[in-house]
Amino acid sequence: MNPVFMERWSPRSFSDQPVDADDLAAVFEAARWTPSWMNNQPWHIVYATKDADRQAIVNTFMEFNREWASAAPVAGLVIAKTELEGRMASTRDYDVGAAMMALTLQATMLGLSVHQLGGVELDDAHELLGLDPATGSVLTGFVLGHRGDPSQLSDSQQAKEHPSDRKPVTEFAAEGTTFPF
Ligand SMILES: Cc1cc2nc3c(=O)[nH]c(=O)nc-3n(C[C@H](O)[C@H](O)[C@H](O)COP(=O)(O)O)c2cc1C
Repeated sequence: MNPVFMERWSPRSFSDQPVDADDLAAVFEAARWTPSWMNNQPWHIVYATKDADRQAIVNTFMEFNREWASAAPVAGLVIAKTELEGRMASTRDYDVGAAMMALTLQATMLGLSVHQLGGVELDDAHELLGLDPATGSVLTGFVLGHRGDPSQLSDSQQAKEHPSDRKPVTEFAAEGTTFPF
């Protein structure tokens, strides 16, 4: 297995070091090449690097994310296209998640970290973006940057500042034709 999978984890401490513009372009380029149903590419990302815009995006995050996420130099919202029908609609979130994983792995390969955030106040995010739910649906947020000094975090957050474990492969993948789990 490529080491990038073990090197990636979701930190809460970020340094204020800006993200190089070429690196930022590369993470979006990686997302661009994600496969999707019928090549529908149902993802949109709105991101901010300037302080006021970044803080406006972070303000749409739920309180438990807001306290640490504002330190990251890039904050973003992940939007899925609406007005889709059939399999195009039912595979939409799958495709958007895949795009975010491509972005995240490219970021990791560049020495950056991404923390994806489901804890977003969705109505606030739609309002900030001026986004009609008929056009797009905010699914998640994220922050991106260089890992920082964990001592800037609260004690409870510091305790979570490490890679986490996973259930074994045998608990989710099995050879055969029946569902054994
Ligand atoms: C869709 C999604 C939503 C998440 N939402 C949050 C969140 O709101 N707050 C948070 O601290 N972490 C969030 N996470 C991070 C996960 O908790 C984390 O990926 C998981 O615990 C595994 O840890 P690791 O990424 O460090 O390997 C989210 C991750 C994903 C993929």
